[in-house]
This record gives sequence, structure tokens and C-alpha cells, in this order.
Amino acid sequence: MTDNPAPYALPEDFVWGVATASYQIEGAVAEDGRSPSIWDTFSHTPGKVAAGDTGDVACDHYHRWPEDVGLMRALGVDAYRFSVAWPRVVPGGSGAVNEPGLAFYDRLTDALLEAGIAPFVTLYHWDLPQALEDRGGWRSRETAEHFAAYAAAVAARLGDRVTDWATLNEPLCAAWIGHLEGRMAPGLTDITAAVRASYHLHLGHGLAVQAIRAAVPGARVGIVNNLTHCEPASDRPADVAAARRSDGHTNRWWLDPLHGRGYPQDMIEEYGTDVPARPGDLETIAAPLDWLGLNYYFRNVVADDPEGPVPHARQVDLPGAERTAMGWEVHPAGLTATLRRMTEDYGARRIYVTENGSAYPDVVGPDGQVHDPERIRYLERHLAACADAVRAGVPLAGYFAWSLLDNFEWAYGYDKRFGLVHVDYATQRRTLKSSGHRYADLIRTHRKTARPAA
Ligand code: IFM
Repeated sequence: MTDNPAPYALPEDFVWGVATASYQIEGAVAEDGRSPSIWDTFSHTPGKVAAGDTGDVACDHYHRWPEDVGLMRALGVDAYRFSVAWPRVVPGGSGAVNEPGLAFYDRLTDALLEAGIAPFVTLYHWDLPQALEDRGGWRSRETAEHFAAYAAAVAARLGDRVTDWATLNEPLCAAWIGHLEGRMAPGLTDITAAVRASYHLHLGHGLAVQAIRAAVPGARVGIVNNLTHCEPASDRPADVAAARRSDGHTNRWWLDPLHGRGYPQDMIEEYGTDVPARPGDLETIAAPLDWLGLNYYFRNVVADDPEGPVPHARQVDLPGAERTAMGWEVHPAGLTATLRRMTEDYGARRIYVTENGSAYPDVVGPDGQVHDPERIRYLERHLAACADAVRAGVPLAGYFAWSLLDNFEWAYGYDKRFGLVHVDYATQRRTLKSSGHRYADLIRTHRKTARPAA
């Protein structure tokens, strides 16, 4: 892998973006008709989130969005990937649409377009209306149907201005971490529930693809998966088999059904439970997509763990590995490898890195600046890994840095900072970090070198 900081050999029309998610930044949880989501319930349950943090206020983006659009303008990004909060738009989960909820995203979309920034809308980034959880959540097939109806309402409202749509963000986290590991909402620890949830998320995706396409001719529709390059800790057959299971759990379970291959049989056996498929479902799930989104953060080096939970593979501590504040290994080559896999094994025709970024313990210094050299290095090395993938033939169309702002990092609360912009939560003051300045430079340099003025 090359390590050149810049410029990167990326396509001329490469899309440079930043990403966020509704519950992580919006706050205003009880305003304009929004109902509670499973994350309101989870974060208000003692012991679930570090320091008892909640998304009640977060970055107050619901009120400060004009300033945040201004920050994106300063960065010079081409695109902004944000998510719509289902409980703002359909507070009951199904049924009546809440006009003030839609109006918020309407204003935001207009302001982005006015700033020359393309909106990339994600319809589900984990904030399921609690009303639906109370009726079985993603374990229930009806939730998939309600998701499609909600998607149709958003598409009908924004579709005259939004072209790029993602149905789900990281269904793996919603299913495996939310229903098997219990570390995310709704906090269950049950493999049957987790497999059912994974299946209904996929079904909801497929139904939403149909709904978006029906409402928005010319829409470009995709899905965002967090995938991880999996390697065995040794060449012992047991570790090699563990890496294969880890790959099944993390990658194949999420990609195979989207590509018409059904669910991997080895994993159905590993889980000891099958998906509740009905005739025609697998075709719905495998609807052809315009693009695939990849959220990449780290690789998995695993050893066999017969006593552990499924998939019986435990992460190995690599001595000397460079890690972020999340404890995640910095491994840009895994990004190249994952992009190549999506292209070479799954035939992807257009890919975005829809998230990539790093947490470090940033502080505003006495000079009023936030100096974050580790994040700059992380960013540069991962962009170089993107360029390596492009050289190898990957149809990579863009990169979205996670995240625009420091924000509510789920069960870690506000302690982990991923932003290119520092947020002082007491004052809501935003400060562009050195990494934000660097990202702006890289974008400018790319435009100058790859898109010379006519
Ligand atoms: O903050 C999350 C985001 O919501 C989903 N992808 C990973 C990020 C960092 O953990």
C-alpha cells in the first residue's frame, strides 16, 4: 500500500462527503411531534450508556443546522450523508405522517442544495419508533412493511430534490449488537431474535427499495453495510475455521442475500435457527441496487473460541497494533481488501465509502484550536487505501468522513469524539479541528489537480 498523503489517484468526479446520523446529533427529542425511539428508551435505562448520557440534546443540530451547513460549506464537501428519524416522520411507527417532522428535513435539503451540497439520505440509522418495538420491533415482519410505508412518505416529500438514497445503515449492528450482544437498543441477547431481526431488516430494505423507486423515478438507491476484513490469528485449522465463521457473521450474512445468494448455510447451522422466509421474499431482498455503501473502521483478527458466543471466534490482541480511542486497530489495508472483495466477489458496480473515521481524545487547546494529528494520519492513510482500491479496479465513487461533528457515540456516550468538528457540549460551540482543515485542503487539491478549470 502507498502512503502518500496527497494527492490521491481518485476519479475526477469523486464525491467528497461527511456523514452523521439523526439520533447522534439532532437532540430535540420531544419537539414538533417526535415520539420516543428505542434509543431514547435504551439511553434512559440506567447502566446502558456510559456516564448515563442520552441523545436528548446531543449537538442540538435540530436547531443549529444552519451553522452546521455552514461548516460543510467551509469544508467544501460535495455531499452530506444524513439520516431521517423515523419517529419524527411517523411517530406511531405506522399510520399518520407528522408534517413538522418532514418539514425539518425539507428545510435541511433546501439549505444543502443552496450550498451546492448533494443530500445523501439514509432512512434508518437505528432509531426505531418505540411504538413499533412495543409490537415486536424488527422481530416482527410487520415492521418491514411499516418501514416501506415510512420510506415512501419520505421519498414522496424529498424525492424532487434528493437523488441518492440508502435504506439501512449497518443492519449488522441493529441485529447482532442490538439483539444478540445487547450492547445497543433494544438490548436483547437472543440468537433467534437476532436472526429474525436481521431477516426483517433485509426484507424492509427490499420493500423500501421498491417504495423509493415507485416514488422517485431516477432515484439511485443503495444500502450501507459495515464490513470487516477477517483474518485468522494463526494458520491452525481451528483459527482458520473461526475466521471463516467471523467472515460469515460479519460479511457474507449481510452481502449474500442482497446478491441473490440467499443466507449462508454454514451460518444458519452455526446459529441453529433459520430465517422466516416466505415465497418471493428472497427476490425482494435481492433487488438490484445502484450502489453499495461500505462503513469501514478496523479489521478482525480472530482465534477459535469454542466456549464463546456465536460465531465462536474471539478478537485477538495484536501486540504493538496501533489503535484509536475505541480500541480499534488502525488497518487501512483492510479497507482496500474489503473494497476489492465487494467488487471481485460480489460484482459491485458503484461503491461509496459511506463512513470511515477515528475517535481520539481531542481537546480545544490554549490557542483555541484542536490539534489532532492522529486523525489526520488516519484520514490520509485510508484515502491512500481508497486510491489503491481504485488502481485495482474498484468502482469507488466517493468517500464520506465519519463524522462531521463529535456526537453521541451510542453506548459510549459523548466520551468518544469522531468529528472533523469539535463540539463543546456545554456551550454547543463548534471548532473545526486540524483534521477538518486537512480534509478541506485535500478536497481543494483534488479539485485543482483532477478537475482542472476548462
Ligand atoms: O457512530 C457510529 C455510526 O453511527 C455507525 N458507524 C460507526 C460509527 C462509529 O462507531
